[in-house]
Amino acid sequence: MTRIKEDLMVKIVSLAKRRGFVFQTAEIYGGLNSCYDYGPLGAELKNNIKKAWWKRMVQSRNDVVGLDSSILTPRIVWEASGHLQSFSDPLVECKKCHQRFREDQLEKNECPDCGGELTQPKQFNLLMKTQLGAVEGEKDEAYMRGETCQGIYLDYLNVKESMRKKLPFGIAQIGKAFRNEITPGNFIFRTREFEQMEMQYFVKPQDAKEYYDQWKKWTMDWYQTFINQKENIRFRQHGKDELAHYAKEAWDIEYKTPFGDFNEFAGIHNRGDWDLSRHSQYSKADMRETDDETKEKFTPNVVEVSQGADRAVLMFLLDAYNETDPRSGDEEAKHEKEVVLKFHPELAPIKVAILPLSKKENLTKLALEVQEKISPSYMTMYDETGSIGKRYRRQDEIGTPCCLTMDFDSLEDGAVTIRDRDTMAQERIKIKEVGNYLKEKLGF
Ligand code: GAP
Repeated sequence: MTRIKEDLMVKIVSLAKRRGFVFQTAEIYGGLNSCYDYGPLGAELKNNIKKAWWKRMVQSRNDVVGLDSSILTPRIVWEASGHLQSFSDPLVECKKCHQRFREDQLEKNECPDCGGELTQPKQFNLLMKTQLGAVEGEKDEAYMRGETCQGIYLDYLNVKESMRKKLPFGIAQIGKAFRNEITPGNFIFRTREFEQMEMQYFVKPQDAKEYYDQWKKWTMDWYQTFINQKENIRFRQHGKDELAHYAKEAWDIEYKTPFGDFNEFAGIHNRGDWDLSRHSQYSKADMRETDDETKEKFTPNVVEVSQGADRAVLMFLLDAYNETDPRSGDEEAKHEKEVVLKFHPELAPIKVAILPLSKKENLTKLALEVQEKISPSYMTMYDETGSIGKRYRRQDEIGTPCCLTMDFDSLEDGAVTIRDRDTMAQERIKIKEVGNYLKEKLGF
């Protein structure tokens, strides 16, 4: 069983490189440990995930607005947030081979690589520090944000005033965060540079629990919309000893992975009044509200939804991966398994493949005309090389929901054949009806 699970991760990493989803950063120089680039299809997939999140989180709600704050932040932000003091992991080093590990992730009290003796644990802060300015010695110390939500708290008053918002309301942002992880790994699961999709919902203290439960449900529903293997996702509550320094209550959304068992992909946190109180205290900006009835001052509480965009890419790749017996009709593929990525249409990198059956000019001209009509609405890919079976196979492997084929009859009857990725059913559709057909089939 473990072997099959490990194989799946190897297959995903290999497919991700071969088909242009994820490449190792600076590969031509030997790579940079645990840093990755998203290739053409990976960039589409990740953008589609972020777009789907933003559409539901911001665009379709009156009570949540968006933000795009700076990655670089002054030191005081992280003093106020408590991260300089508490955002650390216990680091141990092997006295023999000098490998470093997180003590809390080790099963035995000896080096897992060489069996050597380990040092006493010391707390290693995960924030990434940098220097701003040109003149050595006069440079200002700055920090790359360790979580995107801090930018939201810093702009709380600006957003509230400029957008005339009243409690309860939320601020969402998608962006990079940086952590000097001791043990990054498992492909894009744990890296030092990653992207978060976070929303902070500001509420009256007495309403926090009710909204917490609502956002917990919202987050699970969001993932459920897009995954196939519903049994692979679950909630897990943090025990008291696991809670981050800012959290009063925390639940993770976990997905079953080939490494370990279930692993964290998102977190929903009740942060109480920790963040706004601390930033009020350190900045002297008054972030309190006045209760309409009692006229008493209070600091808004925060309910946080925090999701990793890179982890979402990994989850949807794992979830979509299927192997079937040969089915595409690709002659060279007989005796092999074929891969079909069953992405939700909204997430699929390419929605429609345009495949003229022959390279004859009158057919390719028609194919390009059809593509031109569709491409303002849907991401398309044109492919005229190889047998049609091979081309179907290439599209199945990257999860394209619809393949649109033109043959010589198309020149006569003005119709094309549309093949469904999952059922392989084929329908003949008039070219002028293709737009409506795709809208109905893809759902957007
Ligand atoms: N603002 C709260 C916060 O940052 P977190 O549990 O530390 O909470 C939230 O992180 C999410 O960010 C995680 O559930 C995960 O999806 C993503 N994440 C955290 N560290 C990561 C890393 N090193 N690499 C990739 N994603 C990471």
